[in-house]
Amino acid sequence: MKHLASLFDLTADDVMDILETAERLKEKLSSGDPETPLSNRVATLVFEKPSLRTRLSFEAAMIHLGGSASFFSGQDAGLYGRESLPDIARVISGYSDVVVLRTFSQELIDEFCQWSTCPVINGLSDEYHPCQALTDLFTIRESFGALTDEKLVFVGDGNNVSASLAVLTSMLGLPMTLACPSGYELPDEFMSRLKETCPDSQFTQTNDPIAAVKDADIIYTDVWASMGQEEEEGKRKKDFAAFQVTAELLAQAPDGCRFMHDLPAKRGLEVTDEVMEGPHSIVFQQAENRMHLAKGLLTWIVTKGH
Ligand code: CP
Ligand code: NVA
Repeated sequence: MKHLASLFDLTADDVMDILETAERLKEKLSSGDPETPLSNRVATLVFEKPSLRTRLSFEAAMIHLGGSASFFSGQDAGLYGRESLPDIARVISGYSDVVVLRTFSQELIDEFCQWSTCPVINGLSDEYHPCQALTDLFTIRESFGALTDEKLVFVGDGNNVSASLAVLTSMLGLPMTLACPSGYELPDEFMSRLKETCPDSQFTQTNDPIAAVKDADIIYTDVWASMGQEEEEGKRKKDFAAFQVTAELLAQAPDGCRFMHDLPAKRGLEVTDEVMEGPHSIVFQQAENRMHLAKGLLTWIVTKGH
């Protein structure tokens, strides 16, 4: 059985299969001929952190696909001592065809996968956000017409989103640079795993955002303080001050450069209003695509992934 605990669980062929399934389902929906391959199937969502896009995209996806979704907070699912994780995982998966987890610790997802009798999808952990990165590559493919050698420059934190994008771009042979303040690079352990899994990876890290965007096809950013890092917000605002995505920074990139953000955005911090609302921004196309990608991923993992 396939789980998506992180993108290291997928091959490049799996990724292309998921993107193509999502593309087909998106086209079918817009042509008024939707497919319902998950009729009578149940997705259970257990989220420890807030969510707008991930929760709604999976719930809407299941309705479109002919099934249904049930949502639990971590508290309601009993994650904090009501019963053991192995017991919860076996009970939930016994009622479900697929489980989506949003957690603080990646270990919780990894352990849940060991006990689950149905596929598990990581809907964000402190370390990874695979559904976001899959959506982003889907959006880049849609926006540029193909995935060839588009260069993604992530201006921001070495966090769950940039880590997932680094894995996916490396897997698909695309160049990517993370421009971040010193000390906010991706962890050494992650970098070793990336190099081991994708020896031809073109992923690089730099502390110079202006040099990094010179040949960018996509400039991407995310919040400076992720969920769970609220206490570091003050320090991070200072450390990241030179890493705001502004119209001036975008002007350093080639004309056709697109701007992306996984959202929610803190306008005035990592990105200005002008860039969010400007002609380069594809952030709402990207956000809508969360649902189309969720449909492709759910269909793939429930019907083909195992
Ligand atoms: N991008 C994203 O995952 O958004 P939510 O936190 O609202 O789900
Ligand atoms: N890096 C952000 C992503 C939110 C979708 C966080 O973890 O809060």
